[in-house]
Amino acid sequence: MTELLNGKEFAKFHGQHLQAEIDQLKEKGIFPHFCVINIGDDPASAVYVRTKKRKAEKLGIQQDIFQLPSSTTEAEVFALIDRLNQDPEINGIMVQLPMPKHLDPEKVLDRIDPEKDVDGLTSTNVGRLWQGSHFVEPATAAGIIALLKHYGVELTGKNCVIIGRSNIVGKPLAALMLEENATVSILHSKTQNLARLTKTADILVSAVGQAGFVTKDMIKPGAVVIDVGINRVDGKLVGDVAFDEVSPLVKMITPVPGGIGPITVEFLMEGVIKLTRRQYG
Ligand code: GUN
Repeated sequence: MTELLNGKEFAKFHGQHLQAEIDQLKEKGIFPHFCVINIGDDPASAVYVRTKKRKAEKLGIQQDIFQLPSSTTEAEVFALIDRLNQDPEINGIMVQLPMPKHLDPEKVLDRIDPEKDVDGLTSTNVGRLWQGSHFVEPATAAGIIALLKHYGVELTGKNCVIIGRSNIVGKPLAALMLEENATVSILHSKTQNLARLTKTADILVSAVGQAGFVTKDMIKPGAVVIDVGINRVDGKLVGDVAFDEVSPLVKMITPVPGGIGPITVEFLMEGVIKLTRRQYG
C-alpha cells in the first residue's frame, strides 16, 4: 500500500509546536517580526507573498510586506535592506525571488545581515550550510528533511537523487541530506540518461517545474518520492510527478497540492523563530 506523505497535516502538527514557542517568546516580551521584500509583479510571487502573510498572521508573527515597483534601483533596495538590518525590532528579512532582471540577486541577497537571513540564501549562510555550522536553512529543504523524519524515513546510507540544482531547493537539500549521511546525487537539465540514475534512488526528489516530468520508468519500486514541483495545467495544480502511474509503484509519495507547499511556508516561519531566539540569546 502506498503511503501519502501528507504535508498539510504535518504542517498543522508542526505549527502547534511553533505556536507554543511563539507564545513562550511573547510571554517574555519578545514579538517575532519579519519582513518580505517583493520587487516587481511576478504573479507566482504575489501568491507566495500572500500565503506567507496569512500564515504569519495566523501564528501571530508580526510582518511587513514591502511591495516595490519593478523599476526599483539597486541603491533603493540596498537602502531598505540596510534600514531593516539596523532595526532591532526586525528579526528576519527575505527578498522574494525572482527579482527583476536589472538586479543581481546574489548582490541583493548578500546585503541581508546573515543573522536576519530567513531564507538562508546569503553567501555566509550557504557556506555555513555546507560546513555543517548553520543556524538557518532554506525552508523547502529543511521542511523535506523534517517531513521524512516525521514519517520515519531513514536517510543514513540511502541513495538520494535530487532532480534540479537550484540555490533554493536542490543544492541546500543536497547539503542537508549529506549531513544525514545519505549518498546524494544532483541531476539537472544536462544530465545524460536521467532514468538510469533516478532508478537507483531510494529517495527521489523532483524540483524541476515541469508537469509529468517523472514517469514510472524512472522509478525504483518501493522508493520514496518527494514532488516539489508546482505547475498549473488547465487551471489545476499538479507536481512534476505523473502521480497516477508512479504512485502504485512506490512506498511513499507527496501529493500536489497538500505536499511540500504547506511545509515550505511552515518552515519559513520556523526560520523566523529560530533567528528571533538566536538574537535574544
Ligand atoms: N520564490 C520562490 N520560492 C522562494 C524562496 O524560497 N525564497 C525566496 N526568497 N523567493 C522564493
